[in-house]
Amino acid sequence: MTRRRTQVAIIGGGPAGLLLGQLLHRAGIDALLLERRSAEYVLGRIRAGVLEQGTVDVLERAGVAARLREEGLVHDGVEIGFQGRRHRIALKSLVGKSVTVYGQTDMTRDLMEARAASGADSLYEAEDVQLHDIGGTQPRVSFRHRGASHEIDCDFIAGCDGFHGVCRPSIPANQLSVFERVYPFGWLGLLADVPPPWSELVYANSERGFALASMRSPTRVRCYVQCGLDERVEDWSDVRFWDEFRRRIGEEIADQVTLAPSIEKSIAPLRSFVVEPLRFGRLFLAGDAAHIVPPTGAKGLNLAVSDVCYLHEALRDYYRERSERPLDEYSARCLRRVWKAERFSWWMTRQLHLFPGDAFDRRMQQTELEYLFESKAAQASMAENYVGLPLEAR
Ligand code: APR
Ligand code: PHB
Repeated sequence: MTRRRTQVAIIGGGPAGLLLGQLLHRAGIDALLLERRSAEYVLGRIRAGVLEQGTVDVLERAGVAARLREEGLVHDGVEIGFQGRRHRIALKSLVGKSVTVYGQTDMTRDLMEARAASGADSLYEAEDVQLHDIGGTQPRVSFRHRGASHEIDCDFIAGCDGFHGVCRPSIPANQLSVFERVYPFGWLGLLADVPPPWSELVYANSERGFALASMRSPTRVRCYVQCGLDERVEDWSDVRFWDEFRRRIGEEIADQVTLAPSIEKSIAPLRSFVVEPLRFGRLFLAGDAAHIVPPTGAKGLNLAVSDVCYLHEALRDYYRERSERPLDEYSARCLRRVWKAERFSWWMTRQLHLFPGDAFDRRMQQTELEYLFESKAAQASMAENYVGLPLEAR
């Protein structure tokens, strides 16, 4: 068994772990990153890609925005489809900010390349990661790698291992409050190499259920339809997908949709989930390890980035000032932003999906959307949440 020491052990090599590693490296803080899967596997995941302006600014400061600047698609608006009509929410003119469409896979690749170039340590295919003494002052992490056992002594552990990771369950259950809402439907997503006939994202509320027209690049679309939780991908041929998508997205776009073959198709459940607090002793949770939002508000990745931004500042200031205060403030600072993003994502989900409910609920949904389309104030409120509420200054 080998033993080594680092200042911060980062568990998880997704966007949260990689970005934290990059920011800590630039702050001169030593961190070892452990990822359970191979780098190829991590890069193979298809995930959303709408970046808030605040996220783009953090990636710029982290020195990993060169390709994003070149290939990211800046959108000054987003559209809502309802009863066969599309209503544009003019983000830029309403609140002076835009969003950038740039795949999470691309962002992850940029971060991986930056970490490799920095020479900072990462171990992929790290098995059986376990945390020890997280409540004390000398936490440790044990794991197996290529058949050998290893142990890391560290000052802090960053739990960036996602919803199904080992870090959150390492915290005694009576030390955590859990808040959860599981939605009675999922999203069936399809990726296809065809130019998007829409120039901005279109979120559609239709009598047949929700649909979303998104993209990854000028030559690749990403589309979604609301589906039942008991449905399987095998039940959805590409033809059936495009037929249903066209019925929901609105005639104008439907006429322009090409029935392109899918290069990826998958179903994801919808859930709102938050644990409090995000810290237990020397363990700090960030990203999906601590909270999940339904994808309707495009907040998952952006919340992971803001958590990591706050955690980097807390650790940097701890090592500079040797004061516990920045660490003590981390959880509350994150949760103030997390709950606002949870609220917005829950609101978008409620407005745009077909819920099993009574006629009154449906009327409320319709009326809320009509109010949104008529009221500049309501549009500005939606816009400021969609482009991202500002990050708290340290
Ligand atoms: N040991 C080491 N690594 C682990 C372990 C473990 N026990 N368990 C999970 N991991 C790794 C996963 O393989 C994954 O690569 O942790 C990583 C967590 O990454 P993400 O799930 O992408 O979570 P996060 O980095 O917080 O990013 C959040 O991802 O799911 C999207 O919508 C979400 O966009 C948001 C973003
Ligand atoms: C996506 O492009 O995959 C996407 C975009 C916006 C969302 C969710 C997913 O709200």
